[in-house]
Amino acid sequence: MIEDVIDKCPRIETERLVLRKWEERDLEGLVQMNADPLVMEFFPAVMSRQDSERMFERLIAKQVKYGFGTPVVEERASGRFLGLCGLGIPTYPEPLPFDPCVEIGWWLIPDAWGRGIAQEASRIWLRFGFETLCLNEVVSFTSAVNRRSEKVMQKLGMVRDASEDFDHPLIEEGHPLRRHVLYRLSKEKYLEREDG
Ligand SMILES: CC(C)(COP(=O)(O)OP(=O)(O)OC[C@H]1O[C@@H](n2cnc3c(N)ncnc32)[C@H](O)[C@@H]1OP(=O)(O)O)[C@@H](O)C(=O)NCCC(=O)NCCS
Repeated sequence: MIEDVIDKCPRIETERLVLRKWEERDLEGLVQMNADPLVMEFFPAVMSRQDSERMFERLIAKQVKYGFGTPVVEERASGRFLGLCGLGIPTYPEPLPFDPCVEIGWWLIPDAWGRGIAQEASRIWLRFGFETLCLNEVVSFTSAVNRRSEKVMQKLGMVRDASEDFDHPLIEEGHPLRRHVLYRLSKEKYLEREDG
């Protein structure tokens, strides 16, 4: 079966980046990134070491179960951990209104912002998702106030339908970060952009 022969998270190298699976050595980078208030501006709180260790375990578990789990972005020249970016399957304890889905997401250390790294890595994983994994759609979502993240979605050609905005099930009622926007990219739309 095709599922058995495709590596769903290959190691991909570009001139400046390595995109790859999670390894044990990435934990420290994740802990530091998630403890940075700038990175966590649009999340309810910075993450403790213990929170990040749990997140790391979840990412590794998804990698084992689905073959990918929002992979690592590494600086090629130095081997430095820059963050995570790519395809993943949300596995919250409560369902999202648009489940089941494959999402594309990005979290980078501030040193890596403003250099087009989220764009570069996302374009590679979208191509892989549509052309190799034969996905029909990829979604992305973020808090409605996270304009930087929404801009990445727009630049990737993803489309928002405001009637699909939703309240994130893990954020309490009345919290300013609860309202989320949903962007979708269909295979047809992706192919149109690639051809045009
Ligand atoms: C969201 C996040 C990944 C966006 O990072 P980013 O570096 O702004 O995103 P991009 O890769 O799209 O880079 C865009 C900027 O790089 C610049 N850039 C430089 N070279 C570029 C290139 N070759 N291609 C594209 N953009 C380039 C652009 O000018 C652009 O700036 P602009 O915003 O003025 O248009 C980053 O802010 C982040 O990690 N935030 C914290 C975590 C978070 O909120 N994640 C989202 C959770 S839903």
